[in-house]
Amino acid sequence: AERLTARIQAKPPAPTLYHRLQLSCEVLGDPGRQEFLWDKEGSHKPLQRGPSSVLHFHSFNKSHLGTYSCTATGPQGTAVATYNLQINDLVHKVFVFPQETKDSHVLLRAQPGQPLQTLTLCLRSYSDLARPHGLFSYATRAQANEVLLFKPKPSAYEFHIGGKFVIFTIPLGAAPSQQHVCASWESATGIVQFWLDGRAWPRKGLQKGYRVGAEAAIVLGQDQDSFGGSFDAKQSFVGEISSVYLWDVVLSASAVKAAMEDTPYEAPIFGWRNFPYRAVGEVYLKP
Ligand SMILES: *[C@@H]1O[C@H](CO)[C@@H](O)[C@H](O)[C@H]1NC(C)=O
Repeated sequence: AERLTARIQAKPPAPTLYHRLQLSCEVLGDPGRQEFLWDKEGSHKPLQRGPSSVLHFHSFNKSHLGTYSCTATGPQGTAVATYNLQINDLVHKVFVFPQETKDSHVLLRAQPGQPLQTLTLCLRSYSDLARPHGLFSYATRAQANEVLLFKPKPSAYEFHIGGKFVIFTIPLGAAPSQQHVCASWESATGIVQFWLDGRAWPRKGLQKGYRVGAEAAIVLGQDQDSFGGSFDAKQSFVGEISSVYLWDVVLSASAVKAAMEDTPYEAPIFGWRNFPYRAVGEVYLKP
């Protein structure tokens, strides 16, 4: 008999404090009827035992952090999977990208569980770059610019969906300023909304009827020209990025203001209070 394997998946993939979370134990292949035993490292008693493969948390909180294991037992044998439930709360922190490079970036370790028909992206950036640069790059295997927030020059933002984009022109100040930007898109109408520092810009639109792919490589600080790579140093980001959020809904004006303060109303797919990431190359997390 083949050895059984199991894995644990979290839903949503980046849990938000005080929201619902579930861990599910998936046994690969056709193992027949299983019994599942859930344990947590450091806890004396099993958490749950029975036919259910899912462990529910109605309101996820810090006491739930730790390493979980599920042991699935069935007619074909036993499989064990472990999962480290963590939270990266980056509120009051920023990523510093200190210089132009061809590879330094932050890789986001969460994805939407399913294709998106509505979304809102928010982030804050602070840079004195005059050349084009990528801020948030969400690539799928089919489309490198599936979701992209890009600055072609200091006085404009481009927001791309599925390889097409709209441009929003912004006033230039005398000195570089921190800029908080949100952009949303809705497939049913194609409407794109853009907010700069909480102020809504005139709406535009693109890609009516499109669906944004769920299997994505998500990168801050570089522009992907192919899935997970093909960066260009001349489009790299230099400066500070923080307060990055992605939701699968279109935010209201008041929810945009809440996001600016890192106190979002709605659970994001990922956000600054639950930001699973890997920094690659020269990127520093600073208070
Ligand atoms: C976390 O949730 C558990 C229930 O799972 C509850 O007993 C506990 O009081 C909560 N802790 C905090 C700090 O909210």
